[in-house]
Amino acid sequence: MTRIDQVLSQARSRIVMAEARRLLCHLLDRPHAWLAAHGDEVLSEAEALRFVDLVGRRAEGEPIAYLVGCREFYGRSFSVAPGVLIPRPETELLVDLGIARLGTRRASAILDLGTGSGCLGVTLALEIPAARVTATEMSPAALFLAGRNARELKASVRVIESDWFSAVAERNFDLIVANPPYIAENDPHLCHGDLRFEPPQALSSGPDGLDAIRAIIAQARSHLVPGGWLLVEHGFDQAPAVAALLQAAHFDDIEQHRDLAGILRICGGRRTSSAGGA
Ligand SMILES: C[S@@+](CC[C@H](N)C(=O)[O-])C[C@H]1O[C@@H](n2cnc3c(N)ncnc32)[C@H](O)[C@@H]1O
Repeated sequence: MTRIDQVLSQARSRIVMAEARRLLCHLLDRPHAWLAAHGDEVLSEAEALRFVDLVGRRAEGEPIAYLVGCREFYGRSFSVAPGVLIPRPETELLVDLGIARLGTRRASAILDLGTGSGCLGVTLALEIPAARVTATEMSPAALFLAGRNARELKASVRVIESDWFSAVAERNFDLIVANPPYIAENDPHLCHGDLRFEPPQALSSGPDGLDAIRAIIAQARSHLVPGGWLLVEHGFDQAPAVAALLQAAHFDDIEQHRDLAGILRICGGRRTSSAGGA
């Protein structure tokens, strides 16, 4: 006989209690309040074995989002799976900045580059219902998951396979957002924590981490309407380099924004004229 309070207390020696409860709620498909009130319920043998397996995987460092299959982003639950980046809270700032520029009522055209789980494109489509949102990806796992999240959350998003802009014919976007891979490929952080379990193509990008950002900034301007914005998330020490790239690509009104931890995390610029090409 294996009671809920017993398995939780055994798990506590390997992982933190809040995570043990989260895993058990997921396994039993019950809310936290139910778990708290039913410590004396007995698990089946299969449930107990599955719980031990989940606790072991978490103790080995596997991200909790992969174990439970979802992660909250901008107040909505997104399906996640190994092979696709887990949405991060700091990325929500890209949504706030996008909405601040477009408002929630405009019939604008939005492009989300490297959509991963679809968290940015789907959220912008839901927050700006009249927007036409296109989301691009290279990874088959991410293309599948972004399409699934769009369907499950009832968001109208066109998800296309594209190497950044390669399959994007439109040149009339009001807003382009991107959270591209931006970690240097030999950065030791890639060998720690959740990053060990996430797909390398979603994380690192060349020797200085800026290859993807360079490619995006070089092409973005020609896909924006005059007055349109490009907003790019970047690494904690990349703000000066990204601002310089925007300037070199003839963006105007270049802005830098800090995340909730006070770190410069997003750079943006506007195409105000046709000067400097496209
Ligand atoms: C840092 S993840 C961001 C995912 C998602 N936008 C988010 O914020 O959670 C970067 C994404 O870019 C995708 N990616 C990498 N190279 C790409 C390319 N050349 N073209 C399109 N997408 C690419 C990766 O597969 C990954 O899903």
